[in-house]
Amino acid sequence: MKTIQVVTNDVLGAVSQADIDSLSAAGKDGLAKLTNGTGLGNDFLGWVTLPKEITPALLDDINATAASLRDNCDVVVAIGIGGSYLGAKAVIEALQSNFAAFEPAKGCRVLFAGQNIGEDYLAELQAYLSDKKFGIIVISKSGTTTEPAIAFRILREQLEKQLGREEAGKRIVAVTDAARGALRTLANTEGYKTYVIPDNVGGRFSVLTPVGLLPIAVAGFDIHALVEGAAAMAKATLDGSNTLALKYAQTRNALYNSGKKIEILVNYNPKLHFLAEWWKQLYGESEGKDHKGIFPTAVDFTTDLHSMGQWIQDGERSIFETVLSVESSENELRIPFDEANLDGLNYIAGKRIDEVNKMAELGTRLAHVDGGVPNMRIVLPEISENVLGQLIYFFEAACGISGYILGVNPFNQPGVEAYKKNMFALLEKPGYEEATAAIRAKLG
Ligand code: PA5
Repeated sequence: MKTIQVVTNDVLGAVSQADIDSLSAAGKDGLAKLTNGTGLGNDFLGWVTLPKEITPALLDDINATAASLRDNCDVVVAIGIGGSYLGAKAVIEALQSNFAAFEPAKGCRVLFAGQNIGEDYLAELQAYLSDKKFGIIVISKSGTTTEPAIAFRILREQLEKQLGREEAGKRIVAVTDAARGALRTLANTEGYKTYVIPDNVGGRFSVLTPVGLLPIAVAGFDIHALVEGAAAMAKATLDGSNTLALKYAQTRNALYNSGKKIEILVNYNPKLHFLAEWWKQLYGESEGKDHKGIFPTAVDFTTDLHSMGQWIQDGERSIFETVLSVESSENELRIPFDEANLDGLNYIAGKRIDEVNKMAELGTRLAHVDGGVPNMRIVLPEISENVLGQLIYFFEAACGISGYILGVNPFNQPGVEAYKKNMFALLEKPGYEEATAAIRAKLG
């Protein structure tokens, strides 16, 4: 099996190996808390053993539902936000063509909604769907999250107008909690096909449940291979034969303790843009608590070297980089020779684009490390379902360990409620009368 690697040599100008090793007891303790369930947030550890518990029967059932949606729809809209959206989006974008949206659909296109409250976004999506055969996967653990609830109400009405309520019901799949929640009630009433998000798996750790697996399968990717990759990483992480998650968690905490408060996840492949968005949620929501935590951000190189490159090279030295370094690209394309050579590129004529990209990556690493930006690399042998499965579990395990090293509960997200309370008060949601009065007094 081709496995991911973590390389940390280029952090050693900022922290010593002894600094990193000094966190080894805390790292091991964090891993033990994940396996024994003795740490904060231990009611949300279902993801730890999830990969080996996903049965072939469940994967086959998800594939059968995906095949039925593909057979009956030109487009499937996956509705969800946060953890109910980013994992599927990340994996699909990593695996599909950069131009999938503009190519004739092979089977069925997966689009996303409910991840914003953009009126234009929804109106334009409605217009796009007006002459299409479409289906809906509505994903919400609580079933009451405002953004997906609005999108589902609108698209469900459109689908029912197109097909009638009964036929529409055959093209709607709900992914929600086992028993409680508004979406579960609606799905039971309407007879939608449903899948369960386990109670002990939080949203941002749910990509390997039907939350991620169903949209990924609809997009035509191999969910067996994805889960196999994750299961291999889970087994090796939990039995101690693979210490990559510990290495990453300890190194980033050592950097944080030395004043490097911002971690930039870097990619050199545009297909990984949304993997970084998923990672930002995973680490931001897990660690940003009690007025501490590394601020996770991301850039796409070389694109952003022409915008953020200056800041990274010369700005405040509070950052470190973690580079997703992909060893092999799927296609082979060489730079042509040009007689006139007006652009001066003949010195690299005949070279693969990927070779140039790799030299850009190496040159940037050398420059940034020289400029005082510690650099870690997560080396991916390729972008495939199996490797992405490994990477997902690696990041999840490292996140849990890292949160415990930091001393926070990595599995709650109390801070996300504050804006919701204000929004509900401003919209005069029943039950928020006192908050409405208070906010009105504040605004004058
Ligand atoms: O990680 C989380 O818990 C959140 O991002 C949720 O996934 C997100 O708010 C969506 O919640 P729900 O699935 O209940 O609609």
